[in-house]
Amino acid sequence: MITIPYLTALSTYFSYGLLFAFGQFRDFFRKIFDWWNSTTDLQGYAPICLGLEDFYTRRLYLRIQDCFGRPISSAPDAWFDVVERYSNDNNKTLIRTTKKSRCLNLGSYNYLGFAASDEYCTPRAIETLKRFSPSTCSSRVDGGTTSLHNELEEYVARFVGKPAAVVFGMGYVTNSAILPVLIGKGGLIISDSLNHNSIVNGARGSGATIRVFQHNTPSHLDSVLREQIAEGQPRTHRPWKKIIVVIEGIYSMEGELCKLPEIVAVCKKYKAYVYLDEAHSIGAVGKTGRGVCELLGVDTADVDIMMGTFTKSFGSCGGYIAGSKELINYLKNNCPAHLYATSISPPAAQQIISSIKVILGEDGSNRGAQKLARIRENSNFFRSELQKMGFDVLGDNDSPIMPIMLYNPAKIPAFSRECLKQNVAVVTVAFPATPLLLARARICISASHTKEDLMKALEVFSEVGDLVGIKYFPAEPNKQHLEKCTTKED
Ligand SMILES: Cc1ncc(COP(=O)(O)O)c(C=O)c1O
Ligand SMILES: *[C@@H]1O[C@H](CO)[C@@H](O)[C@H](O)[C@H]1NC(C)=O
Ligand SMILES: *[C@@H]1O[C@H](CO)[C@@H](O)[C@H](O)[C@H]1NC(C)=O
Repeated sequence: MITIPYLTALSTYFSYGLLFAFGQFRDFFRKIFDWWNSTTDLQGYAPICLGLEDFYTRRLYLRIQDCFGRPISSAPDAWFDVVERYSNDNNKTLIRTTKKSRCLNLGSYNYLGFAASDEYCTPRAIETLKRFSPSTCSSRVDGGTTSLHNELEEYVARFVGKPAAVVFGMGYVTNSAILPVLIGKGGLIISDSLNHNSIVNGARGSGATIRVFQHNTPSHLDSVLREQIAEGQPRTHRPWKKIIVVIEGIYSMEGELCKLPEIVAVCKKYKAYVYLDEAHSIGAVGKTGRGVCELLGVDTADVDIMMGTFTKSFGSCGGYIAGSKELINYLKNNCPAHLYATSISPPAAQQIISSIKVILGEDGSNRGAQKLARIRENSNFFRSELQKMGFDVLGDNDSPIMPIMLYNPAKIPAFSRECLKQNVAVVTVAFPATPLLLARARICISASHTKEDLMKALEVFSEVGDLVGIKYFPAEPNKQHLEKCTTKED
């Protein structure tokens, strides 16, 4: 649970209140104005964009949009090139220049550093590009299954520790297209309250009944399951056809590890299937990079459906489902995203195979093991330093994601712009990706960050943190502390 400091909550409410009041006020006059101006009459059509999210977009997002969607013009490595933009209309439209600034990248999901050119993966991806072309131009069941696709599925199954796997061209689609194949009307999905949007959409599209349990709270999951099993299906009260509990390995906006052992125990008790989305944990945590099962000591046999994406640790694209042979065959015969979508791009498939080989040490080096040790060290070092500086940091040790709470809407652009001025690029997230009050900067640490990179980031954060006023838990003097670390490092 996130506890907002009392005064911060008050000022955040006040800021949003002010924004909302002025926004509504301006909307009201705009409506009157439009009404007078007959040419903007909708001529019988209902307005296509309405609602709170649209209001939010116009009245908040558009004012600070220079902080989002910044174009980059290089690989998302530890440092990358951010394209400079300017505006002649208060940032309503942003015009790209040919200038770029080299910035420290603290936003990409490049956990193991495979997103940049790699001595083992890149030549193989280029070779594959030449041999197979960028696209198969065909779906898996037609001409879109190359030998590479079969090899990839074998590698993924072996890597995550399941008998079989199926891969898709997009991680988002993996969730949103698989859930409706697994379950439908008469079924029950119990979903963590902070699950990713792809899960939410998959669950809604399935037609199953959806119940939500308090984020990462096994005891609440237990009571929801007990209640729902006692109740049965709506109206008829017949028993549920099946029950699937959907959780994530690392929550991408919270940086939190899932309480997998406890949740698996609850699911076993009620005979509910476990669906685990490892988008941010596979490759990034565990001694050999095998995700939260390995990290938390859970047998993969106890997780029925293992899902993950290749867009983070493997530096590629696509997603996978791993499970029993029976399950994977069923999905391959029934999932529209397998039957009707063009298969994953061959160079992307090769990138995944090669990066898994590096992680497992099958490239003949120990670079994989070094990367895994590095991401862990870097993450734990950075997190503890941020905490010592007094930032309100969410998440668990070992997680490479660490959100720094900003809360107040004015602090979103302030933090982002001040960091960028000092060549540190950060991602800020706000509503609708987070609850309205809980805006944050989300730091993603990579194995490719050096100690100097992290020290630079900490120095900039410390300065900007004081300027913007987001050190909500001030502790010891920071300067002194940073010096201590530098000397320890030498
Ligand atoms: C938990 C989770 N699942 C699924 C996805 C979607 O994956 P992709 O970005 O590869 O489409 C994401 C993306 O960030 C995610 O965080
Ligand atoms: C009013 O109508 C004119 C065309 O007659 C258009 O150019 C203008 O943009 C409209 N103004 C508003 C505020 O919609
Ligand atoms: C527009 O963005 C720049 C930084 O990208 C910022 O310095 C400036 O204050 C913004 N202007 C407004 C009116 O918000």
